[in-house]
Amino acid sequence: MKLDQVKELDRAHLFQNYGRQELCFERGEREFLYDLDGRRYIDMVAGIAVNSLGYAHPAITHTIREQSERLVHVSNLYLVKEQAEAAAAIASTCPKPLSSVLFVNSGAEANEAALKLAFKHTCRSRVVSTYNSFHGRTAAALSVTGQKKYQSGFEPLLSGAVDLIDYGSVEQLKGAVTKDTAAVILEPIQGEGGVIPAEREFFRTARDLCDEHGALLICDEVQTGLCRTGRFFGFQHYDVVPDIISLAKALGNGYPIGAIVASKEVASTFVPGSHGTTFGGNPLGTAIARTVVETMREEKMDIQVAEKGGRWMEQLRDIATRSGGRIRAVRGRGLIIGLEMGGDAKRLQAKALENGILINVCAGSVVRLIPPLILSDGSMKAFNDVLESFLS
Ligand SMILES: Cc1ncc(COP(=O)(O)O)c(C=O)c1O
Repeated sequence: MKLDQVKELDRAHLFQNYGRQELCFERGEREFLYDLDGRRYIDMVAGIAVNSLGYAHPAITHTIREQSERLVHVSNLYLVKEQAEAAAAIASTCPKPLSSVLFVNSGAEANEAALKLAFKHTCRSRVVSTYNSFHGRTAAALSVTGQKKYQSGFEPLLSGAVDLIDYGSVEQLKGAVTKDTAAVILEPIQGEGGVIPAEREFFRTARDLCDEHGALLICDEVQTGLCRTGRFFGFQHYDVVPDIISLAKALGNGYPIGAIVASKEVASTFVPGSHGTTFGGNPLGTAIARTVVETMREEKMDIQVAEKGGRWMEQLRDIATRSGGRIRAVRGRGLIIGLEMGGDAKRLQAKALENGILINVCAGSVVRLIPPLILSDGSMKAFNDVLESFLS
């Protein structure tokens, strides 16, 4: 099928609720995508921080083939072997006492489950969240998303129950967490909001205040989790252990799956009937999730990403210092890197595309680099070259 035919069908039969680029891909391999005409692109977007092991990773492809020939879905009316195995694999990567996993289908649904768990566990209903955050598009996840543009048209949501503070403000955090707070929900790095990392003190204070007031700390690791930041989880940069972690994106390397992880004690708040999903934790999705987690562990992906990302960030900072202020800041950790571009972000995106490189722009002016974690040095250099030529 040709691109024009895809565009025509899209316009005729799909909701027009995505601002799509006019690109259509047929296949992928490692960090490369190939469009309908066979043109190759270096992908620095990874399906929005999803395809961490790259396209067509042999272990993932093998699991999909093998598992789909046996069993795709049975429901949670029965014991699911693959689900239990994936939960054990995830738990083995988590610090104590985080050992119980509930599988869902997306990041928003993971946060939805995390919030419901916190409400029920604490018998409270207020949530502290941050401006500029992004937690997903379902009603509760959207309520704690501190960006009006996503909520507009859907109010009032749960907004009466959400206390928003500036990300990073220890002072505001101290004023916001009270004995009515069920949970504080934080991204370890604000991704969608423009790749904004936090200081250690902010997370430590959140942990302390949650302990003091009996609230739960939810770390939304949907984007930062599973080695993206150079640690298995983003919260590990801050030496805190949250009460609940939400995961999705990289967990299925493209297969839609999410999860929350909590301690046995917190998890025991959910009893049969408290929460559930028909598809959540199906054998195919969880077999893939197990392969993802085990592959990342075997390949020491966290260490690889810390090294590679650190090196790339240095190179980008060096380019930024020579950019005459056109790159105002280079932020991030591991392989989630933001270039604060002032007015130039969209033009850089177009220039990169001309040169066969896909990049993402978020928060208006930030080029967000979230490539597959298996990114090669050659692809990093290709982007640096385009950036230098754009700036010259
Ligand atoms: C931090 C964070 N939380 C939640 C979500 C929502 O995930 P999903 O789109 O899978 O519902 C996203 C998606 O970008 C995210 O970045």
